[in-house]
Amino acid sequence: MSKFLKIFAPASAGAASVLTMAYFLADQFVVDMPAPVRGAFVQPAQAQDAETPVAAEQQQASLPEGGLGLGREALPEEVAAWNIDVRPDGQGLPVGSGDVFTGEEIYIEKCSVCHGDFGEARGRWPQLAGGMNTLTRDDPVKTIGSYWPYLSTVYDYVYRAMPFGEAQSLEPDEVYAITAYLLYLNDIVDDDFELSNENFSEVEMPNAGNFFMDDREETELPLFVSSDVCMENCKDSVEITMHASVLDVTPETEEAEADTTEAAVTEPAPVAEPETAVTEADDAPVAADPELIAAGEAAFRQCQACHQVGEDAVNRTGPVLNGVLGKTIGSVDGFRYSNVFEDAADAGEVWTEERLAEFLANPREAMSGTRMSFRGVRDDEEIAALIAYLESFAD
Ligand code: HEC
Ligand code: HEC
Repeated sequence: MSKFLKIFAPASAGAASVLTMAYFLADQFVVDMPAPVRGAFVQPAQAQDAETPVAAEQQQASLPEGGLGLGREALPEEVAAWNIDVRPDGQGLPVGSGDVFTGEEIYIEKCSVCHGDFGEARGRWPQLAGGMNTLTRDDPVKTIGSYWPYLSTVYDYVYRAMPFGEAQSLEPDEVYAITAYLLYLNDIVDDDFELSNENFSEVEMPNAGNFFMDDREETELPLFVSSDVCMENCKDSVEITMHASVLDVTPETEEAEADTTEAAVTEPAPVAEPETAVTEADDAPVAADPELIAAGEAAFRQCQACHQVGEDAVNRTGPVLNGVLGKTIGSVDGFRYSNVFEDAADAGEVWTEERLAEFLANPREAMSGTRMSFRGVRDDEEIAALIAYLESFAD
C-alpha cells in the first residue's frame, strides 16, 4: 500500500455526527501521540506543573469559576471512539477473536463485491491477496501478504476505513474474523486458524524483514561526509573570487544592470600587436598611439562592470579612473577604499605606470587586502594597452 488513504468516516459514538478524517500509511509506524496536557491553555508557569495532581488541582482552582466557558471535557466514550489505533505490538487491540470460516462469511457479504471473493480484486478495486515475490519487479503487486509488514495495519485499516462507505461499522470479533480470513487468503495461516487479541502479535508477516529503521546515518552518511576535520596541512585559504554584484545577481540600478550585462556578454578583449606593446613597455614617453588606445578600450570591457571613465563617469563598485596615472592612490572623492588603499593614500603613494601595471597584473598580490575582486590581467601587452587607454582620460 503506497498511497495515502483518505476516508471520511462518521464517528460511531456521541450524539453529534463528527466527521473524522483518517489517513493511514501501512508502511509507516503509527507515531506516538503526545498525551494532551490538561489545562494547557492556562499560563505556562502553571501548565508546566500540570503533571502532578496537586498542581493540576491548584491550576483548576485558579481558573475562573466554571472554567473559561469553552468546551467541556470529552466523555470516555468519545475518547474511546477516537482512540482506535492498533500498533505493531498489538497495543490498542480490543479483546475479541474470530476464525477463518466466520471471516469468510462476513467478507463475502461485505467486502467481496469490491475486493473479489479471494482478494483478487474486482475491476480496479484494490487487490488484497497474492503478489508474492513481485516486489522487485517493475510493476510490483503490493498486497497485505506480499508487502504489509504488520498485521496490526490490517486490523486497524479494516476497522478504521472498511467497508468503503460504512467505515467503523464492524464489531471487534468481525474484524478479527476478517483479518484471519485475509491471512488465510494470503497463505499465511491454515483454514482452522482463529485470531484473537492473545495470539495477534505472534503472526509474522512475510515481508516484515524488509522494513527496518532508517539507518542511513550509519550506512550512507560516512560515504559522503568525512568525519575527519582538517587540523593541520589544510588548504591555505578560501578566497572569494567574484561578488554577486559583479555577476549582476542583484543589479543596484537599471544602469548598472545594462552595463554589467554588456560587459558579461563581451568576447575576450583583443590584444594589441606585440610590436606596439614592446615600445610601450620600454618606458618610452607615451605617445598617444590610437591603435594601442583602441586595444585598451576593448580590454577595458572587463573593467566596466566596476569602473567608469570619461566625462559622465561616476563611482560604482570601483572608483572613477579618470586621470589615474600620476594621481595619489585611493584618492577619488566619495569612494570608500579598502584599508590598504587608505594607507597608501595617507603615505602619499602615487600611481606610476609601473605600479599600475603591477596592480593590474595581480591586484591582490600588489595591494594585499584590496577590495578589487579581479583576478588580474595576465598579458603584459594587454596591460600596456589598458594603461594607454586610461591615460587618454584626464581627470
Ligand atoms: C465499495 C467498495 C469496497 C468495499 C465494499 C470494501 N472495500 Fe476495501 N477498499 C476499497 C477501496 C476503494 C480501497 C482503497 C481506498 C484508497 O486507496 O483510498 C480499499 C482498500 C482496502 C484495503 C487496503 C488495500 C491496500 O493495499 O491499500 C483493505 C485491507 C480493504 N480495503 C479491506 C476491506 C475489507 C476487509 C472490506 C469488507 C469489510 C472492504 N475492504 C470492503 C473499496 C471497498
Ligand atoms: C569586480 C570589480 C572590479 C573590476 C572588474 C575591476 N576593478 Fe579596479 N577596482 C575595484 C575596486 C573595488 C577598487 C578599489 C580597491 C580598494 O579599495 O581596495 C578598484 C581600484 C582600482 C584602481 C585604483 C583606483 C584608485 O583610485 O586608486 C585602478 C587603477 C583599477 N581599479 C583599475 C582597474 C582596471 C584597469 C580593471 C580592468 C582590467 C579593473 N580595475 C577591474 C573594482 C574592480
